[in-house]
Amino acid sequence: MTVALCPGSFDPPTNGHIDVIRRCLGIFDELVIAIVRNPSKTPLFDAAERVAMIESLFKDDPVEVDSFEGLLVEFAQQKRVDVIVKGLRAVSDFEYELQMAQMNETLSGISTLFVPTTPENGFLSSSLVKEVARFGGPVDTMVPALVAEALAKRFSDDR
Ligand code: PNS
Repeated sequence: MTVALCPGSFDPPTNGHIDVIRRCLGIFDELVIAIVRNPSKTPLFDAAERVAMIESLFKDDPVEVDSFEGLLVEFAQQKRVDVIVKGLRAVSDFEYELQMAQMNETLSGISTLFVPTTPENGFLSSSLVKEVARFGGPVDTMVPALVAEALAKRFSDDR
């Protein structure tokens, strides 16, 4: 049985994340989605909210969702995963992702595999989606419905 770890901030999850996770579900037996808690950043959605969103999106799939703080490879070893999977949107992602993959391999022996996002999701990022949603722009085609609703609610609470 092969278990893959998909790490990220997922603040919030976009259709790009969903696409990569769905394709991983067709390749691996189980997935662990690892949501980073970074004490030096203030996310729009706290870790529990992000976990709940992804759990709800993949409630019928062999997916475990958890959050972590600290080194990704320590979390990966705790969860006994076989491989780390990262989505790549563009060549500009590659340089940094390659560096992290090599560092993580050196620290733990765990390999990272890269999955290219589908072209229609290539421009998507959580930061851009948040910016558009913050100013009331339409993000319905960029994130799942439950995320679009959560964004609308979060920003209407702010106004
Ligand atoms: O969605 P993101 O923000 O691109 O995800 C980045 C993430 C969470 C994968 C990366 O920041 C990470 O692995 N953080 C944990 C800290 C760590 O292990 N750092 C060393 C990486 S070589």
